[in-house]
Amino acid sequence: MLVKIEQKSILDIEADVIIVNLFEGVKYPGGVTGIVDKKFNNVISDFVINKEKFEGKFGDIYKLPILESGKKIYIAGLGDQEKFNYTKIRDLTAKIVRNTDGSAKKVVSILHGAGIAGLCPRRCAQMITEGAISGTYSFDKYKSQKTKTQIEEFIIAEIDGQKYEKALKGVNDGIIVARAVNNARDLINESSQYLYPETLAKYAEENSGVKTTVYNKEEIKKMGMNAFLAVGQGSVHEPKFIHMEYKPQNPIKKIAIVGKGITFDAGGLDLKPPASMLTMRDDMSGAAAVICTMKAISELKPDIEVHGIIAACENMPSGSAYKPGDVITAKTGRTIEIDNTDAEGRVTLADALAYAEDLQVDEIIDIATLTGACMVALGTVASGIMGNDDTEIKKFIAAAEKAGERFWQLPMFEEYGETLKSDIADTKNTGGRMGGASAAGIFLSSFIKNTPWIHLDIAGTAFLEKADSEGIKGATAIGVRSLIKYISELN
Ligand code: BES
Ligand code: MN
Ligand code: ZN
Repeated sequence: MLVKIEQKSILDIEADVIIVNLFEGVKYPGGVTGIVDKKFNNVISDFVINKEKFEGKFGDIYKLPILESGKKIYIAGLGDQEKFNYTKIRDLTAKIVRNTDGSAKKVVSILHGAGIAGLCPRRCAQMITEGAISGTYSFDKYKSQKTKTQIEEFIIAEIDGQKYEKALKGVNDGIIVARAVNNARDLINESSQYLYPETLAKYAEENSGVKTTVYNKEEIKKMGMNAFLAVGQGSVHEPKFIHMEYKPQNPIKKIAIVGKGITFDAGGLDLKPPASMLTMRDDMSGAAAVICTMKAISELKPDIEVHGIIAACENMPSGSAYKPGDVITAKTGRTIEIDNTDAEGRVTLADALAYAEDLQVDEIIDIATLTGACMVALGTVASGIMGNDDTEIKKFIAAAEKAGERFWQLPMFEEYGETLKSDIADTKNTGGRMGGASAAGIFLSSFIKNTPWIHLDIAGTAFLEKADSEGIKGATAIGVRSLIKYISELN
């Protein structure tokens, strides 16, 4: 689907569907909705609002046929004006796109939010663009009957010159972000039967948009990443270490983003029960977010040097698998006693974080489907965030909020580390279920010397059983929007 913006009246753009809007309780629409109402003999105010009692509740869509032309006007409810925000613009647009009649090929929309609501035209346009493209998403490659929408063109109409100029930038950014999001969803939804370290690495080489180096098992061994290798040693698939680099001319800052890349997490010898294992192809959601963020960064071209890092492997039980009680020496020299082979993500990240720190970046962010405990704490509503630098954490939460994603800070009190004490090694990889998200954070922090670091735990938000407010089931690609926004704001 093509999304674009035209500096014209909504009535002067040829389309099968015209989308206008209405705040809850408004009886006589103003702005563009008012213009459309007048043009069609007050059909919106007299018929839709007065007779049909359309109230403009958020997400309600009234579909009004224009008899002589065969076109339709959709009146989209914006809900309570006080509660209206940017995320709602995206959710609403996605819903409209999902619910547009099959035959409609060309749709024209009002720039929701930039009228009486007085929101920033650029951000409104970005949200509409993201919603429109997100609304077309479905993972249907293995279905004979495709569910994708037939809409070919989604046009935003904005006649005001100043608003148009700002909104145009929002559309361009929105296209880049939304493509990154949908590509990450495709990667995550893909079966692990086809998506394993080698194919993930190949995807990165072909699609990250930046210089990508892939290291094989021998090379990983030479770099001393024994913790990472231990996790992957039970699989028939060889582990791969992926390093993507975006290097602008004169970077004002250097950062590394590190994604957990377990292409399937069976739990290892501490095998997961069936219900928990079912969706574990999503355990590379962090890696997918990193690859697709790199692609977006290569297009947005900020003056920030960005390294994308992934230690990709599969966590399987087998005769060669790593075992509870094994002691492994990580890249930093720190030794890990394996307490539970299912706490594998942190073991791979220990080496990936050390590799990132060796690059002498100013900041490291990791993103990982790390703990069931984080999912228990925050549900699917918010992702966890921790780290060693409160200022950066606050900045990240604020950037994420603007991008329409929610992060909630979890504590890193020293006491959470007590359970990780080992009798035979420097640390155990886990010490029980209580406070598990924080304990995992403490574990990770012990592999970073002094670089500012943020840890994102997306275990609860990466993959959904029930459709979210954008109508997305399965992979959400959580983190992509926040990472892009955060990095853009460093500029
Ligand atoms: N990949 C899982 C975490 C996870 C759980 C992600 C649910 C998405 C949904 C991780 O590797 C894991 O198995 N963690 C264990 C750690 C435990 C053994 C300390 C967990 O959370 O149960
Ligand atoms: Mn696990
Ligand atoms: Zn895992």
